[in-house]
Amino acid sequence: MLAGKHLLLIVGGGIAAYKSLDLIRRARAEGAEVTPVLTRAGAEFVTPLSVSSLAGKRVFSDLWDLTDEAEMGHIQLSRVADLLVVAPATADLMAKMAGGHADDLASTLLLATDTPVLIAPSMNVRMWEHAATRRNLATLRQDGIAVVGPGTGDMACGEYGPGRMAEPSEILDAIRARLGGGRLAGRHVIVTSGPTHEPIDPVRYIANRSSGAQGAAIAAALAGLGARVSFVTGPAEVPPPPGVDAIRVETAAEMQDAVTRALPADAAVLAAAVADWRVANASAHKMKKGPDGAPRLEFAENPDILATLSRAPDRPRLVVGFAAETDDVLANARAKLARKGCDWIVANDVSPATGIMGGAENAVRLLTPEGVEEWPRAPKAEIARKLAHRIAEALA
Ligand code: CTP
Repeated sequence: MLAGKHLLLIVGGGIAAYKSLDLIRRARAEGAEVTPVLTRAGAEFVTPLSVSSLAGKRVFSDLWDLTDEAEMGHIQLSRVADLLVVAPATADLMAKMAGGHADDLASTLLLATDTPVLIAPSMNVRMWEHAATRRNLATLRQDGIAVVGPGTGDMACGEYGPGRMAEPSEILDAIRARLGGGRLAGRHVIVTSGPTHEPIDPVRYIANRSSGAQGAAIAAALAGLGARVSFVTGPAEVPPPPGVDAIRVETAAEMQDAVTRALPADAAVLAAAVADWRVANASAHKMKKGPDGAPRLEFAENPDILATLSRAPDRPRLVVGFAAETDDVLANARAKLARKGCDWIVANDVSPATGIMGGAENAVRLLTPEGVEEWPRAPKAEIARKLAHRIAEALA
């Protein structure tokens, strides 16, 4: 669960550098952003092109690359990250770190930051066991630097012993542990998102204008705080964020089913724009024009997922619903809170003039038993982060 986390990965010059390519791939698959830095020695083992391709962004190598200090100076580069990871950390890099050297980009970044640092040492057995490395390691530990590995095994140089860089999966565990302390670590949250599609016939359906942007942002923010997120999404425009368990559904009935299966959970945020009705007489065959004129659709009411969940015996401790309204927002939201039996309602005005539905921003009111809070217009990601922190507080 590294969604929303930013890693600065320094790849040093060791045979294990190839494992760092896998580390980049896996970290990104978990939702992390990875900014790679390749030392001159590192570039002897893996190419800048493979590193940047996997990271999906340019690789920084030389202190003097950063000519445009205003755009991305070295100070900035090391401070945007949540964690600096050095893998492989060679004996030389460790010595530089312990001594406070700053004669290349990697060592300068490591000195110019107060961001936590994790190193994955990798070197020959004799180098690892040398008194100088022992001393440096002790210094680094004292400085608060986290260390993962090295493992023991056959080495590329033909010797056997400690010095092999930890495997990417172990490094990821160490990254998660280091970043962990997430306020929602160990919690499970269900999020519904997007529209539902209710079939009329095999090729037609009834839908609504929900893009799924707010729901996806909430799921990402919850995952960013360390929660395990079951993200039940209808056919939305916005893809599921990385780092969540995405469960794709089409209809309200399928969404209801998926939510029930995802239980138990500590909290649920039902942000989906569920269709209130489905077509009761949906056709199994494509409807054709004919002499009888337009078809007559009959509707049946869909299950109310929010009301059902709020009253379920195994209901999450905190159930949050949404109220998308075009008129009398507050009065309607209050009525919805009472009617649905949920704990909180996030109310927003989706009148076309607000540009909220399908837009990048939202302005909401949070209704809780304690009262109503006005949250000013802000990007959906920011509203999501605020809500995720409120949920963490409520569950604490
Ligand atoms: N909701 C749900 N299942 C439904 C309908 C709505 O879970 N069948 C949830 C939505 O995800 C949202 C909340 O209920 O969290 C309110 O949705 P909304 O469409 O605004 O409410 P409705 O129940 O449709 O009420 P109204 O018809 O008065 O707008």
